[in-house]
Amino acid sequence: MAELFEGIKINGMTLKNRSVRSATWAGMAEDGRCSMRLIELIADLAQGEVGLIITGFAYVNHILKTRAADLVSMSRPLIREPGLVRRWKEGDRKKAKCISCNQCFQAARSPDGVYCVVERSVKVKKKG
Ligand SMILES: Cc1cc2nc3c(=O)[nH]c(=O)nc-3n(C[C@H](O)[C@H](O)[C@H](O)COP(=O)(O)O)c2cc1C
Ligand code: SF4
Repeated sequence: MAELFEGIKINGMTLKNRSVRSATWAGMAEDGRCSMRLIELIADLAQGEVGLIITGFAYVNHILKTRAADLVSMSRPLIREPGLVRRWKEGDRKKAKCISCNQCFQAARSPDGVYCVVERSVKVKKKG
């Protein structure tokens, strides 16, 4: 276990150890924005010496505009629409089609591996 406590450099960032708190939705955002409760939660983790803290989701327009965050993470929206970033870049700014139904978790356990269950059923209906 001693290895966990060794520092590491990642792309210019020095982490004091090799533990990472993965992205976790905390249900503490207010109106989609960071709240004092969220800040306190993250401060507790930092005081608990977690090496890298990945925050959970919140609305991103504001934090991107103000440069409060450098990167935006998406998982399910990109399962449904692998071309989503290109679509937005090219000017079609309609919301992501993913409806957050979580059915892709089941699909990941299927022999086909992960896919958007909703998108596939839409395609089947269209063919139908
Ligand atoms: C099918 C599927 C598999 C996932 N696998 C992992 C995983 O292996 N490790 C992990 O930390 N998060 C995993 N996640 C969580 C995502 O990385 C992400 O944090 C979560 O889906 C919320 O982001 P989203 O609203 O953009 O989907 C998975 C999510 C989905 C839908
Ligand atoms: S199955 Fe549901 S949650 Fe998963 S990508 Fe498709 S619409 Fe989104």
